[in-house]
Amino acid sequence: MITGFSTIRRRFPVLGVLTIFLCIGSIQNASAADPGEQVFQNNCAGCHSVGGGALVGPDLAGVHDRRSQAWLEGFIKSSQSMINGGDPDANALYKKFNQIRMPDMSLTDGQITEVLVYIKAAGATTGTTGAQKPAKKPQKVATKEDLTRGQNLFQGKLRFENNGPTCISCHNVTNDAVIGGGVLAKELTRVFSKMGGTGVRAILGRAPFPVMEAAYKDKPLTETEIFSLVTFLQDADEQHAYHNPRDYGKGLLLSGVIGAFILFVFYSLLWLRRRKDSVNQKIYDRQVKST
Ligand code: HEC
Ligand code: HEC
Repeated sequence: MITGFSTIRRRFPVLGVLTIFLCIGSIQNASAADPGEQVFQNNCAGCHSVGGGALVGPDLAGVHDRRSQAWLEGFIKSSQSMINGGDPDANALYKKFNQIRMPDMSLTDGQITEVLVYIKAAGATTGTTGAQKPAKKPQKVATKEDLTRGQNLFQGKLRFENNGPTCISCHNVTNDAVIGGGVLAKELTRVFSKMGGTGVRAILGRAPFPVMEAAYKDKPLTETEIFSLVTFLQDADEQHAYHNPRDYGKGLLLSGVIGAFILFVFYSLLWLRRRKDSVNQKIYDRQVKST
C-alpha cells in the first residue's frame, strides 16, 4: 500500500497528492457531520437554533455571512473576553440580547471548528428557505392550577416526577408565597422578561449551565413540569412589583424594639409599689416623732 502510494506519487505527483487529499476529505466528511452536531446538541441547543428562530441567543442560520471565521472562533471560545475587550460587534450583540451571558465553554479548537462546520451546513439547508422550521405548537393557555403546580414544584412542596432537585436549592425568586431560597445561582424573578417564554423553556429542557445540567442530567423535567414552572416564573415576573423582597432585618429590629418596650412597661408595673425612699427613713421618722 505504502509502496503503492509512493510509486504513484513518483510517477504522477499531482495525482498522488490529489488522492491523498480526497481520502482525507472523505474521512473528514464522514465523521465531521456527527461530532459537530453532537457538540451543538450538548452545548448550544439550549440557547440557539439553526433556522428555528431566536431562543435565548440569536438564530445561527447564516451566521457565517454576518461574521468572519476568526470572529466566530473567538466568540465561541470566550465571548466574555471579546465583550470585555471592547469588540464592537460582540458588544452590540450583548446589548441586543439583554446582556445575557453566553457561557465560556471549555471546548477544544477542534470542537469549535466542528460545530461551526455543522452550523454552516445546517444553516444552508434550513436557514434560507425557512421551510423546515418546526411547526408551531398551538399555545396552551395556563390555568391557575398550572401556576400553583409551578410554584409548588419550584420550592419543592411537590416532587419532580424524575426526582430532580428543587429549583430553590440553587435559585431564589422574590414572591410572598415563596420562602427565601438558595443563592448559588441567579435570582429568577425577572428572568421571564429577560429571556421570554421560549428562552426559559429551552433552558429547562436542556440546561446550558454545567452545574444545572449536572443536576438534571438523569432526571429530566417533564413537559408538564416545564410548562408549570414557566407559568410560575412568568407570574412571578409580572407580580414582582407587588411583592417585597423578604427582608427579615427590618422586621426583626422592629419586633425587638416593640418587645423591649412591652417588657419595660411590665417591669415598671411589677415594681409600682417598690420602696422609693431609704430603708431607714421610717425608723428615723418614728424616732423624730417620739422625741
Ligand atoms: C446560555 C445560553 C447560550 C449558550 C449555551 C450558547 N450561546 Fe451562543 N449566544 C448566546 C447569547 C445570549 C448570544 C448573544 C450575544 C451575547 O449576549 O453574548 C449568543 C451569540 C452567539 C453567536 C453570535 C451570533 C451572531 O449573530 O453573531 C454565536 C456564533 C454563538 N452564540 C454560538 C454558540 C455556540 C456554537 C454555542 C455552543 C458551543 C453557543 N453559542 C452556546 C447564548 C448562548
Ligand atoms: C444545582 C443547582 C441548580 C438547580 C437545582 C437549578 N438551577 Fe437553574 N441555574 C443554575 C446555575 C448555576 C445557572 C447559571 C446562571 C447563574 O450563574 O446563575 C442557572 C441558570 C438558570 C436560568 C437562567 C438564568 C439567567 O438569567 O441566565 C434559569 C431560567 C434557571 N436556571 C431556572 C431553573 C429552574 C426553573 C430550576 C428548577 C427546575 C433550576 N433552575 C434549578 C443552577 C441550578
